[in-house]
Amino acid sequence: MSLRKVVYLFVCLSAALFPMILGEEKKKIVLIYTTSIRALGELREIENSYMEHLTSYVRSLHKKVDTLKKYLCSVAHVNLDRLESRVQYVANPLNALGLLRRAHEDWPKWLSYIKDQEDVEKMDKLVAQMPNAVDMNEALMGLERIERFYDLKAFDMANGLVAGLQLDTRMTAPECLILADFMYNRSEYTRAAEWYRLTWNNLQLPLNPVAREFYRPNQEEVRKRFLISRLHEGSIDHINEYLAELSQDPAIPLVYLKPKPAATLIERGCRGDFPPRPMLVCRYNHTTTPFLRLAPLKEEEVSRDPLIWLYHDVLYDSEFEQLTVNLTRAEMVQGYTDNYTTTEKERIFYVNIFEGSGEKLDRDLVNRMADISGLLTGEHTQLGTVNYGLGSHFPEHGDYSDIKANPELVEEGDRLVTFLFYMTDVPLGGATIFPKINLTIQPKKGSALFWYNIHNDWEPHVLTRHAVCPTIEGNRWILTKSLMAYDQMFVKLCYK
Ligand SMILES: *[C@@H]1O[C@H](CO)[C@@H](O)[C@H](O)[C@H]1NC(C)=O
Ligand SMILES: *[C@@H]1O[C@H](CO)[C@@H](O)[C@H](O)[C@H]1NC(C)=O
Ligand SMILES: *[C@@H]1O[C@H](CO)[C@@H](O)[C@H](O)[C@H]1NC(C)=O
Ligand SMILES: *[C@@H]1O[C@H](CO)[C@@H](O)[C@H](O)[C@H]1NC(C)=O
Ligand SMILES: *[C@@H]1O[C@H](CO)[C@@H](O)[C@H](O)[C@H]1NC(C)=O
Repeated sequence: MSLRKVVYLFVCLSAALFPMILGEEKKKIVLIYTTSIRALGELREIENSYMEHLTSYVRSLHKKVDTLKKYLCSVAHVNLDRLESRVQYVANPLNALGLLRRAHEDWPKWLSYIKDQEDVEKMDKLVAQMPNAVDMNEALMGLERIERFYDLKAFDMANGLVAGLQLDTRMTAPECLILADFMYNRSEYTRAAEWYRLTWNNLQLPLNPVAREFYRPNQEEVRKRFLISRLHEGSIDHINEYLAELSQDPAIPLVYLKPKPAATLIERGCRGDFPPRPMLVCRYNHTTTPFLRLAPLKEEEVSRDPLIWLYHDVLYDSEFEQLTVNLTRAEMVQGYTDNYTTTEKERIFYVNIFEGSGEKLDRDLVNRMADISGLLTGEHTQLGTVNYGLGSHFPEHGDYSDIKANPELVEEGDRLVTFLFYMTDVPLGGATIFPKINLTIQPKKGSALFWYNIHNDWEPHVLTRHAVCPTIEGNRWILTKSLMAYDQMFVKLCYK
């Protein structure tokens, strides 16, 4: 994948472009929660309101039932089956008046009492904000990715054990089932079978009565899907073995009936299988700008070819707060990859462009980027504030875009450098990897990567291609900015 639209968006921040992209998003009204933890947090808030209304609905139902029972008791119960007894009843003038009054006055009242469903109306409104099928699919993609990239066992995952960390959550039968169907649809039959088996096992447990009574993933149906998954890769002659597998301990992984696909280079990098990073140089840099004589930067050289540095403690908690604390989903847009060979786009994360307007935060960040790079960092910050979501990743790409393929860049030049600030720690997953040079960088709050994307002759440096591993657990926030080449023509040093 060559140029990424998102990267394009960060960089070519012509005032005209940004509202256009925003407008496009608004028109489509894509309400996707999965691709940003911030957005998922909003969904949790909505669920909270939903549950509050549901609780209040149950409370008022109880009250209604009590009141209705009282009313029922208050209306005389005479046997009115026979015409004779009905006539006798209304021949009594008091009964007749009572009947007329009740029918005239009470009936509509009771009906509107029963129908009064303020909570239901509120819940109806919340349902309008529910995640759609695309969102659900994104979530399943995220979980599938976590399982595949980190080579997790379905059994461990379902029990909340991910990459050595025990979460205090277990997956329920409907969740196992939907993941199983998802794997099945991707023709990942062994993995699908694992999830069907987990669903089947889960359904036997007494601990989930709601799943059994309300959702009813039928156990027989699940068994059938398990067998079909096995048969896709196996043979009908072994059906008894597959049946035996179903009642085996689900902690024992199923045998792959077709060879398990080998891990890709990126997957290996994400699992931490690259050889350890050689220690190049760690130093205090106090030369790039005069300010650094007072406050030198903690600089770690992590690669010489291409040139990549890692800086420590270059973003403060207060700055992270100011940049993100009040950012809502509505102010952020969905970022996509852009693969020019197909019209297929992949959603990756939510992004907001922090333009900066001369306030302290703006000036501090601009100056810090100048301290790091020694380059002309412009008047305003103009950087992308990015929040990843559930299992979000960023496939391999280069931040350069190759001018020959993108003539619109001819006036500014290609993207010379990239700044990537990590605003949060990511406890599990979410590393930035440079697969061509065996480099893995785990986000550390307050640190930043800085690298050159192109050679001295302005040609793309393909070894800078990088990817972001799926986040397993954590809230991954980054800041990113590029500088275009031609502006830096007279200040950029020539590196060997
Ligand atoms: C674009 O996507 C297609 C299908 O997903 C893939 O085969 C192709 O390699 C991608 N192209 C680039 C330039 O990454
Ligand atoms: C799997 O595919 C079927 C048939 O196309 C579809 O109805 C179902 O929603 C898909 N399930 C998942 C979880 O993707
Ligand atoms: C500080 O960083 C600049 C820019 O990357 C570099 O040119 C310079 O050599 C560094 N100075 C020291 C003392 O490491
Ligand atoms: C966030 O919003 C609150 C309430 O409107 C406000 O008091 C606070 O100053 C804002 N914080 C930042 C960093 O903008
Ligand atoms: C990356 O690591 C592999 C071994 O895992 C090694 O064969 C390869 O040469 C390394 N590549 C670079 C650029 O260091």
